[in-house]
Amino acid sequence: MPLPIVVATRQLPPNAWDALIAQAQVVCWEHDCSVSHEWLLDRIPEAQALYCLLTDRIDQDVLQVGTQLRVISTMSVGYDHIDIPTCTARNIPVGHTPGILTETTADLAFALLMAAARRITEGAEYVRQGHWAEWKPDLLLGRDIYGATLGIVGFGRIGQAVARRAQGFGMNVLAVRSPREHRETSEPSHLSGINGESSDMASVTFVDLATALRESDFLSLHVPLTPDTQHLMGTSEFQNMKRSSMLINTSRGAVVDQDALYAALQQGTIGGAALDVTDPEPLPASHPLLTLPNCLVIPHLGSASTATRLLMADMAVENVLAGLRGERLPHCVNPEVYQ
Ligand code: DGY
Repeated sequence: MPLPIVVATRQLPPNAWDALIAQAQVVCWEHDCSVSHEWLLDRIPEAQALYCLLTDRIDQDVLQVGTQLRVISTMSVGYDHIDIPTCTARNIPVGHTPGILTETTADLAFALLMAAARRITEGAEYVRQGHWAEWKPDLLLGRDIYGATLGIVGFGRIGQAVARRAQGFGMNVLAVRSPREHRETSEPSHLSGINGESSDMASVTFVDLATALRESDFLSLHVPLTPDTQHLMGTSEFQNMKRSSMLINTSRGAVVDQDALYAALQQGTIGGAALDVTDPEPLPASHPLLTLPNCLVIPHLGSASTATRLLMADMAVENVLAGLRGERLPHCVNPEVYQ
């Protein structure tokens, strides 16, 4: 029996690669840059499986020619780059990599929060440029993290992991569960620990988005990108935030209306922003956001630790292999295909 064909849009780490080639014939994009759409369209008709990245657009064009696809697996937890309704209609299960990148991404969100609060990149640049002549009582004064209020928008795995860090730093945590609930008027509710587990951590208070906007000193976004969350943060949301507050985004760039963010930062409607994700990605070096001293942008590094990226590749391969064997994917985003 010939081995099934897997198209992979990027080279895999050795462990994941070995597991894949033991059970499949792999057609791999060999370059260290995003796959060309043309290359993908040329190769996908022969593929039974697709291993892809969050930078690949898996749209109607790809799915239309991928007539033999039995599984699609993305090496990411986010799957907004894949046309899921079409996959589901075609009965193609789609796998992703939840869980294993939670702590790593929460670390990064917290690193951004701390960098923005304490002006770390400005300080480093100040030294690098030779401006450090003496210690001054008012040099690059930042904001205290201890005692500040952190609003967490989206209280899934990563949001909860950020809350744990915030509690360790003595912050008050306001959690907004999901965009749908943000629009409902809900009484603030207090919870000991997270998700009702008994815990020695300070309490998390569940609030609606309006309350989180109004009361937070830092607001960190942890919602997936969906039609409901696209431009969740726009002009009116920024206007409802404290003038000193800082926005942290490690979710997806399009959750924020970036033009509105630029205006809010430039006009001092909010105090600052630290972004791991932008719209588009990569953000052009000439983008106006990069001219603002109160905006820190890094290149989508949320899950970028060596250990986590290896685990993500392993998990993505597990999804591919399960799909090829006709088994339920261990981490499936559209389990409806099994009904
Ligand atoms: C994901 O996996 O969706 C993350 O954005 C990668 O860091």
